[in-house]
Amino acid sequence: MKSYVLGAVSGIALIASNVAHAEPQAEVLHYWTSGGEAKSVAVLQEEFAANGGTWTDMPVAGGGGDAAMTALRARVLSGNAPTAVQLKGPAIQEWYEEGVLADISAVAEANNWDAVLPASIAGHMKCEGTWCAAPVNVHRVDWIWANADVLSANGIEMPSTWDEFNAAAAKLQAAGIIPLAHGGQAWQDATVFEAVALGILGADGYRKAFVELDTDTLTSAEMVAVFDQMRLMRGYVDGNFSGRDWNLATAMVMNGEAAFQIMGDWAKGEFIAAGKAPGEDFLCASTPGEGFLYNVDSFAMFDVDGDDKKAGQALLAELVVGQNFQKVFNLNKGSIPARTDVALDEFDSCAILSSDDMNASSEGGSLLPSYAHGMALRGAQSGAITDVVTAHFNSDMSSADAVQMLADAIANSL
Ligand code: GAL
Repeated sequence: MKSYVLGAVSGIALIASNVAHAEPQAEVLHYWTSGGEAKSVAVLQEEFAANGGTWTDMPVAGGGGDAAMTALRARVLSGNAPTAVQLKGPAIQEWYEEGVLADISAVAEANNWDAVLPASIAGHMKCEGTWCAAPVNVHRVDWIWANADVLSANGIEMPSTWDEFNAAAAKLQAAGIIPLAHGGQAWQDATVFEAVALGILGADGYRKAFVELDTDTLTSAEMVAVFDQMRLMRGYVDGNFSGRDWNLATAMVMNGEAAFQIMGDWAKGEFIAAGKAPGEDFLCASTPGEGFLYNVDSFAMFDVDGDDKKAGQALLAELVVGQNFQKVFNLNKGSIPARTDVALDEFDSCAILSSDDMNASSEGGSLLPSYAHGMALRGAQSGAITDVVTAHFNSDMSSADAVQMLADAIANSL
């Protein structure tokens, strides 16, 4: 069972806050509960403890984080916010506007975050110029994962177009193999949808549709083609897909029950935790089309009372963006570091591909925020899109009806 553990934790870095003499403690709400996710968050727990912190774990199971966000709302509404929360994208701004986030600028400035974080990531972590979240990683969403032996035994190459994917799926079905391992949960339907949309709409079309909410693009013939492809995808999943957790779908690829999974690279964390090797046991490739859908996990600190909790927040923020954590956590999680100065020599071929593609897409204008994972839009708009996507996936709704429903749902959500 391969796993990555912390190296010698360097002496406690400067805790840039005025509570340096308190006993750091933090209750941390997150939704990292699968095998690979749990190993990853354990890295932070261990580092926090090694630096004198007391960690109270508040895991909320449910991939994609919907359940965790429901639990967060309940806690904040009851006036009992957790110390730190796994929170990302525009949701950070939404909570900041509620006036409940702590300012972690002192830690960010003392540790020079502006110099080591790409502007595209730092931008998500700032609220009206102050630092309001600490970035953990860069996940890529638009990946295809495959069982290497299944593809080899069936004479199939990793597809580089959706036509090739469809041809491979037909060949696999004829051989009695499930082409696409999938969990029938709305966020997973949305994950497949946005990868298909990127490939068919292209980077500019994706940006117009899911960042700018451009009606012409949302109701275009290309968007109809996206739903046409989603209808085909529905035909490639097994009869028991409904409600399946994403990591159980990953396990289906791992054990050869299914050939492919379209999922962010937290799926790689499951392969790694199971001791599987990229290029040997499993293959990774970006989904067909140009571009890179990023999903940056981060922690926001909530405005809580008590010097011990404030010290815990400062320590957590410092560790999360620290060099050592950024390497060890991401080796386990399947993502790549958010920091630009972490050597990737210990990272595998999939991570190197992700890093290279991220840099290339950043230069080429095709580095895009994942809508399905809360990086592109606020909750009302992203939820409106996902409701249509999952309704279409789980019915015989026509593509034309789905496109009209999409435009109407977004218009009604604004
Ligand atoms: C994403 C999250 C990832 C991973 C995934 C499955 O939204 O950013 O870190 O946890 O959900 O739960």
